[in-house]
Amino acid sequence: MLAETPLDDAVDLYDKLAPRYDKLHHRWLRHAGGEAQAALEGLVRALALPNSKFLDAGCGTGNLARRLIAEGMPPNLMTLLDPSVAMLARCADIPVPKIQGRLESLPFEDGTFDLVTCAWALETVPDPHLALSELCRVVRAGGALCLAFCADEPARGFADSLMRQALLFRGTGRFMSRSRLMQAIERFENFEVRAIPSHGPASTLLARRSGEATQAPL
Ligand SMILES: C[S@@+](CC[C@H](N)C(=O)[O-])C[C@H]1O[C@@H](n2cnc3c(N)ncnc32)[C@H](O)[C@@H]1O
Repeated sequence: MLAETPLDDAVDLYDKLAPRYDKLHHRWLRHAGGEAQAALEGLVRALALPNSKFLDAGCGTGNLARRLIAEGMPPNLMTLLDPSVAMLARCADIPVPKIQGRLESLPFEDGTFDLVTCAWALETVPDPHLALSELCRVVRAGGALCLAFCADEPARGFADSLMRQALLFRGTGRFMSRSRLMQAIERFENFEVRAIPSHGPASTLLARRSGEATQAPL
């Protein structure tokens, strides 16, 4: 088990939550997950090359893509995926392909992307192990998967604990074991994983797929 509690399908929940999502998520980042999010974004900035094919899986309202495009990442090599129609509708302003799909059955060939991010979405799916195997499958040799997730780590204080309770109460996610997640990734062939340190009930992982990068020409 990668997570402490099973979870039902959360797509309907996110469909309903979409109009309020940014406000609620901002609160989560401010009080609990901000360091882990900053670590994930730092990884993306460090690893992205001008011709990197990039997938944000479980993209939500597309805030990561919006920020990366504003910083100069070319949108023509970027893909967004989420199963929630209402969340995807909030990405309408982002000039990239948007695919309605699920982590558990990614509609891409093996090794399609140089860089795959999945922020705060793995913990929303009923079968995170299957989702993880799909995320790893679509990473190209020499590429990387960057994960940020609600981790079963000690809260720093009252605000962290409150955020944790709120998330569990709403049923929009659950807390995953960082060490079990790392072990699960290491079992996939050619993956090496490291944790990026951060405090609070959240974590960031970098999983690199060994092998020579064979980037598609622009
Ligand atoms: C907490 S939000 C994170 C959104 C975004 N990554 C962010 O950082 O703001 C979780 C997202 O996961 C999506 N989600 C739920 N079930 C999913 C599934 N089975 N496959 C992919 N994404 C899923 C939800 O629709 C929602 O957009």
